[in-house]
Amino acid sequence: MAYFIVSATLRDKESTSISLEMEKILLDAQKYGMSNVNKHISHKEKEDFFIEILVKNKPVYVNDNFKKLRPESKIIEKAKLKNTFFTIKSNERTFKFQPYKTKNLMIIVGKDVAGTEELLEKFREIFFGMILFTMLLGIIGGLIALRKILLPIKSITQTAQYIINTGKLNERIKVENTQDEFYELSIIINKMLDKIEVLVKSLKETIDNVAHDLRTPLTRIKITSELALSDQSKLNPKEALLSCLDESDKILTLLNAIVDISQIETGSLRLNIEKIQLKKLIDDVIDLYDYVIEEHGINLNVKCDENIFVYGDFNRLRQALSNLMDNAVKYNKPNGKISIKAFLINSKVSLFIQDTGIGISNTDLPYIFERLYRADKSRSKQGLGLGLSLVKAILKAHEAKVKVRSILNCGTIFCIIFQH
Ligand SMILES: Nc1ncnc2c1ncn2[C@@H]1O[C@H](COP(=O)(O)OP(=O)(O)OP(=O)(O)O)[C@@H](O)[C@H]1O
Ligand SMILES: [Mg+2]
Repeated sequence: MAYFIVSATLRDKESTSISLEMEKILLDAQKYGMSNVNKHISHKEKEDFFIEILVKNKPVYVNDNFKKLRPESKIIEKAKLKNTFFTIKSNERTFKFQPYKTKNLMIIVGKDVAGTEELLEKFREIFFGMILFTMLLGIIGGLIALRKILLPIKSITQTAQYIINTGKLNERIKVENTQDEFYELSIIINKMLDKIEVLVKSLKETIDNVAHDLRTPLTRIKITSELALSDQSKLNPKEALLSCLDESDKILTLLNAIVDISQIETGSLRLNIEKIQLKKLIDDVIDLYDYVIEEHGINLNVKCDENIFVYGDFNRLRQALSNLMDNAVKYNKPNGKISIKAFLINSKVSLFIQDTGIGISNTDLPYIFERLYRADKSRSKQGLGLGLSLVKAILKAHEAKVKVRSILNCGTIFCIIFQH
């Protein structure tokens, strides 16, 4: 576009200068008569322009410039045919002419435009060279940008392919800190893979642990039944059946707890949220453990104002507190202490359950909320290792947090922080 504007402007300038010269000659012709016109054509104009005047096809004036043009007749022939500007190449140069024609008269005025044409030619070369260069630069830039875009996609595809082929979830996308959308996408996919890896690992561990925990009661049922059925057995059939019933109860409890936890974790279990007076909830739990507390000679201390309220599902929260109470009793020392205290801190309700029991070692502490995890020290007591997983799942569903601190052989304190 720029090229066409420049070339049109330059060519226009040449045409205007020829036209002006033509007008001048015509005015002089009117003023002095055609035969005297040549006397009035100035020396400079004679040099710059190519002028020929013909009357009845006979040249009456030809300036020196025009005489040098070869073949002169070709220009006259073309001027006869054209009514406007035309160009002619002569002696390797370009000339532009304008004809003026009446019945008897013909004036031809021309100019050497080789300079302009050369300039335009050079301009054209530079201009199109630049366009070509810009296009090449664009293509190269585009290819580099495309490669940059495709590189992270390639890395994502390779990672996904590796995981599909090997089944190993530990592979991650190689992330380059480009701070663009692909960088964010790679980070998110890597985080998602981290989460999936943890979930698959915990699922595998749960399945292994459940299989292990099911094996013991099932083996006992099998052995007891075989013994009861054998001819020489001294086992009372009623006793054998009671033992089998006891073992199947354990299996059912285990399975129910696992189903409960996963239902709460996946959110498929509906919570019946209501405003709960915390004191009432605590009293309800203590009622359940009254007998056991007395039996173990435990000293219970409760401190909770009646105006402390929380929002939640009463039955589920009672289930969570019961499990914490169960642990506080089960892992306590004889004649130990349990204290339950509730406070309003920064308009949030915090509930502390503290015991003076066997405590939890620092190596066990990070795992106690995992399904089926039991510290070696507590294996002498009955349990499935599911109580705290249930506590965590219930509290998470209530958007409440649970924290634990423990000193081995001194005691443990669990703290629940309700958000509302
Ligand atoms: N108050 C506590 N004092 C000492 N150890 C505890 C206490 N609470 C939990 N633990 C440790 O954490 C482990 C997991 O507790 P969790 O309640 O999940 O399982 P559990 O009590 O063994 O069995 P379950 O609750 O299913 O009958 C326990 O086995 C025990 O080692
Ligand atoms: Mg427990």
